[in-house]
Amino acid sequence: MTDTAAHDEWVRRPASAAQGTNCTAEQYEAMYARSIEDSDAFWLEQAARLDWVKTPTVAGDWSFDPVSIKWFEDGQLNICHNAVDRHVAAGHGDRIALIFEPDDPHGEVRRISYAELEREVVRMANTLKKMGVSKGDRVTIYMPMVPEGAFAMLACARIGAVHSVIFGGFSPEAIAGRIEDCASDWLVCADEGRRGGKTIPLKNNVDEALEKAPNRGVLVIEHTGGQVTMREGRDHWYHELSQGVSDECPCEPMNAEDPLFILYTSGSTGKPKGLLHTTGGYAVWTETTFRYTFDYRPGEVFWCTADIGWVTGHSYVVYGPLQNGATALMFEGVPNWPDVDRFWAAVEKHKVNIFYTAPTAIRSLMREGKEPVERHDLSSLRLLGTVGEPINPEAWRWYSDTVGKGALPVIDTWWQTETGGVMITTLPGAHDMKPGSAGKPFFGVVPQLVDADGEVLEGAASGNLCLIRSWPGQARTVYGDHDRFVQTYFVTYRGKYFTGDGCRRDEDGYYWITGRVDDVINVSGHRMGTAEVESALVLHEHVAEAAVVGYPHDIKGQGIYCYVTLNAGLEPSDDLAAALRQQVRHEIGPIASPDHLHFTPALPKTRSGKIMRRILRKIAENEVSALGDTSTLADPSVVDQLIAGRMNR
Ligand code: WT7
Repeated sequence: MTDTAAHDEWVRRPASAAQGTNCTAEQYEAMYARSIEDSDAFWLEQAARLDWVKTPTVAGDWSFDPVSIKWFEDGQLNICHNAVDRHVAAGHGDRIALIFEPDDPHGEVRRISYAELEREVVRMANTLKKMGVSKGDRVTIYMPMVPEGAFAMLACARIGAVHSVIFGGFSPEAIAGRIEDCASDWLVCADEGRRGGKTIPLKNNVDEALEKAPNRGVLVIEHTGGQVTMREGRDHWYHELSQGVSDECPCEPMNAEDPLFILYTSGSTGKPKGLLHTTGGYAVWTETTFRYTFDYRPGEVFWCTADIGWVTGHSYVVYGPLQNGATALMFEGVPNWPDVDRFWAAVEKHKVNIFYTAPTAIRSLMREGKEPVERHDLSSLRLLGTVGEPINPEAWRWYSDTVGKGALPVIDTWWQTETGGVMITTLPGAHDMKPGSAGKPFFGVVPQLVDADGEVLEGAASGNLCLIRSWPGQARTVYGDHDRFVQTYFVTYRGKYFTGDGCRRDEDGYYWITGRVDDVINVSGHRMGTAEVESALVLHEHVAEAAVVGYPHDIKGQGIYCYVTLNAGLEPSDDLAAALRQQVRHEIGPIASPDHLHFTPALPKTRSGKIMRRILRKIAENEVSALGDTSTLADPSVVDQLIAGRMNR
């Protein structure tokens, strides 16, 4: 390693000579320039790697004011064909598409070839049709990390149904909200999921959700064999309903701008938003970003540890790798069960070449020291990546030195549910790395930093991160609420897409994401709206008011800190705290469980009654000497009470 001590440390570690995408620094510069200056030609060329039913003649047709985003509009294609059938047709049917590593390390590994994947997806697609699903219908998918989850997504894409995948850590209440929001008539789930030796009652959660939000049909995949109730006329076992379905199911030709999926994500206000991604642009974006970001080489095993319930799983467990004909590992379990070497054991077992995970996982494994890593032969690894939250340089170093033996490129990738795929990263082979920095913009991406007033900041600067050009993978709208899409992303800085992130650009043009600047917190790489947690808390009959902020957490990145005031005459108690935690789990799910509940007689408010969150954040961060101006508070003594309350917890 040849670090220099200048400003931000450089780490020079070029990818090996045998390049996959063969992108050198010069090539990156030339391609990047072309992706902006001759955008249409550039993107039509990238798009040409895919099979189109009708080849597009135009690439981008977009405006951020008024907001209208279209890519490859006159093209027709099917992403399932591109992810599955075309590899079989090209003679690669024997190549492994998915490797399934089960929760139980002694359980059965499944190796699914592209030919088998095609058969499985066709069977699932025809079964969905038999249940009644048609083109354009929304299908909710609530699955564990098993290949059938990917089959279900691809089967929807194949028949032109729109999938809405919900992470297994969401509660029945949250499922119901999402079903209602997109009027989803159909659902695919497993009987139960497995994670870290525990079972998750997926079908039971679905039953509870459907009490609130009834639908037309549920396809249930037998996974654990656990006890579930099946409702006559609504629920169908997959192994029964799939009996006798045809083994042919042509891919539906889709217009490039036909919807592919909806994925819910949290924002600063209101309920989660259903971001809509369409077919052609998303296909091109995930194919291209996977190919270049990971410098993928045929035959390599790629492992993204994200769940398919998040966008990372959509783009880099399913659509990105499979469109590239890659072999993707799907892991059902968790990093620390049955032991803290589980990731490394699986890397050795499956000879993983590219490993892509979240900083939170690295930080939790770093605590366990080197030994669990050194127990395993990790010589298959060629590239390491991270996503989901800023990676602190200490964690980067550990990942690079202990897992990568100081010899591998380590890429950080910044992006969002809204962006569909990687936006800022260093490309292996092209860019030197700086621990803690996401790196440079991907092809077609033009970041801009602005100050609070919207003034554009040039050169080395810190500000709010906007993107001023559309890219093919951009979400097109919020399902059913285009105005919300416009208001959320394009109004703060008119005519620009505002990411919600703060960011620094250094003198080398590298971007350093500093975290959200809105009321969104990032807990273990999961995005959480503080307003959602507040709404859950105030539903409790004893709660008068709640204010939720993030605070730095060693492992999770940010923790959930809840200030709660009770109705007059009530005293805090452990029982009440437990009930409030339960309330949040019930409304949102276990992933939103509060880390800290701080009961307080009052919240700091301005004279006009606005809660001063800035003060609450500082107190949660234990930065009580830096509270700033408190003179506008209606009752300044509230602050002393809060500080005393924090000391006591
Ligand atoms: C938010 C998006 C990208 C898929 C996973 C999360 C944060 C994401 C990074 C990174 C710093 C990051 C941002 C972003 N984020 N990746 N490499 N460095 N921050 O997708 O749930 O839509 O969350 O995650 O704050 O806005 P998401």
